Amino acid sequence: MADLPGRSTISLDGTWNTIVDPYESGLNSRYFEKARPHAKGDLVEFDFDHSPKLHVPGDWNTQRDSLFFYEGPLWYQRNFSYQKRPHTRAFLYFGAANYLARVWLNGVRVGEHVGGFTPFDFEVTGQLSDGDNSVVVEVDNTRRPEGVPSVRTDWWNYGGLTRSVKLIEVPETFIENYSVHPAKGQLDQIEGWVQLNGAQPAGTVTVEIPELRISQKAQTNRSGRAEFRFPAKVEAWSPERPRLYKLLIASGEDSITGEAGFRTIETRGTQILLNGEPAFLRGINIHEEAPYRGGRAFSEEDARTLLTWAKELGCNFVRLAHYPHNENMVRLADQLGLLVWEEVPVYWDIQWENPATLENAKAQLRDVVRRDQNRASVILWSLSNETPVSPARNAFLKALAEYARNLDPTRLITSASDRFDRSNPQSFLLNDPLGEYLDVLGVNEYVGWYYRKPEDADQIQWKPAYAKPVIVSEFGADALYNLHGDAETRFTEEYQANLYAHQLRMISRIPGLAGIAPWILMDFHSPRRPLPGIQDYFNRKGLVSDRGQRKQAFYLLQKFYRGEAESGPQK
Ligand code: GCU
Repeated sequence: MADLPGRSTISLDGTWNTIVDPYESGLNSRYFEKARPHAKGDLVEFDFDHSPKLHVPGDWNTQRDSLFFYEGPLWYQRNFSYQKRPHTRAFLYFGAANYLARVWLNGVRVGEHVGGFTPFDFEVTGQLSDGDNSVVVEVDNTRRPEGVPSVRTDWWNYGGLTRSVKLIEVPETFIENYSVHPAKGQLDQIEGWVQLNGAQPAGTVTVEIPELRISQKAQTNRSGRAEFRFPAKVEAWSPERPRLYKLLIASGEDSITGEAGFRTIETRGTQILLNGEPAFLRGINIHEEAPYRGGRAFSEEDARTLLTWAKELGCNFVRLAHYPHNENMVRLADQLGLLVWEEVPVYWDIQWENPATLENAKAQLRDVVRRDQNRASVILWSLSNETPVSPARNAFLKALAEYARNLDPTRLITSASDRFDRSNPQSFLLNDPLGEYLDVLGVNEYVGWYYRKPEDADQIQWKPAYAKPVIVSEFGADALYNLHGDAETRFTEEYQANLYAHQLRMISRIPGLAGIAPWILMDFHSPRRPLPGIQDYFNRKGLVSDRGQRKQAFYLLQKFYRGEAESGPQK
């Protein structure tokens, strides 16, 4: 079920009891039953009520020093009271939990979920009691070779109930999800569907857009799905004018409200067309790291800070790397007018030949599409980042691309690749076989940082092997805020700024260039960056420090995006 506005919900956020369980003895010791000694001879070796607390939502790593590096199982428990109501169903909903979560309600196991960045829920109508209830969640962020992502990443493996937890109440037959969007390339035709869930799937649904005096009825088929299409005179959503319309959807006992912007997104040759017009994506990468306090970002305030910095930079586009970020980010992108690239964490090398790994990647893609399909800001689904070319990898990503197109034929499919032929030092060939399955090519290149010198960029010409739009989805250099020196000294602001200057000139010469997203908006925690006094477990490629301080390159890119630099982007 989708967490749709207008639902009756009970928040379970706040302080939870916790037990750190590195040997996962809680399964055998039945922590999920919240047992208590009843007689002095009883042997019970855990007690949630007197155990340390953690705040939910939030990762555990930045809430307790002793857990900063902790990877393993950790148990959460809290009580809540509930009043049962007739003809009402209830679902336990999690915005996300990293990585594996097992859930019990009143000692009954209600479900398990794998994947750290997408929502999941379990129906608990039958398990709820009138009055006091106890929910127990085992969360385990152990990295797994068969996982998505697998065991190696360049971001902190924050564990825990990282996003909100709530109880959602709905009528016996309810609106499970919906999709409302313009027909492909036709802004004046609105189409979509509403999916009912429940004993009475056959019925009438009404879709209303009050500002357009539209009230459209449709009948559901036997499996509770109603499809509709109707003409409408809408004002297009765009970064310059992020026009949103209120939506009301009703059926039987149930009704929800929503907000939608209407825009079309397509490609034509090497151009990306937004509302039928060529668009240039002035972007930046963002990790879901909380500004100022560090840790996994989750709140609207976190999202507003990060996206406001991106707007200040002159961006009309953000790449949310390398996994689905919290919903506040995409809802705010709708309101602020930022185009969005969303990605599933098929990152570096994974088990390409493992069918369970493919199912896992598909499930994460399905869940983010279901959550964000009505966000006008989201224009690109990215399948992967920097994956090594092999027949198994190509087949895996081909299958994932086909799956994505079936899930959502209205958006563009892309991936970030760092596999290009640079055997000729002055002519780089963008020929990753993955390009065949994509609508838009993403290229990650680190000329001047991981290879070559910054000024070598002046000699390099790029040759895309596909007549498709190209987005430079990463380039960058580490710089510690306020570390100064000459432009040849690594980790100084001068080195980073100099690299940006050469990069932006080189990139502006790429044929078919449709957008840029440098790596990265803000410094972020990474276990691969221990350099003392400079990195201290931060990747320092941010244009802004983790404390919000702008580095020289921030202003250089800002000038470029404002078209004030000698080689500005096409308007
Ligand atoms: C890679 C990768 C990022 C990483 C960055 C870096 O290209 O996609 O996740 O953080 O480069 O090395 O800084």
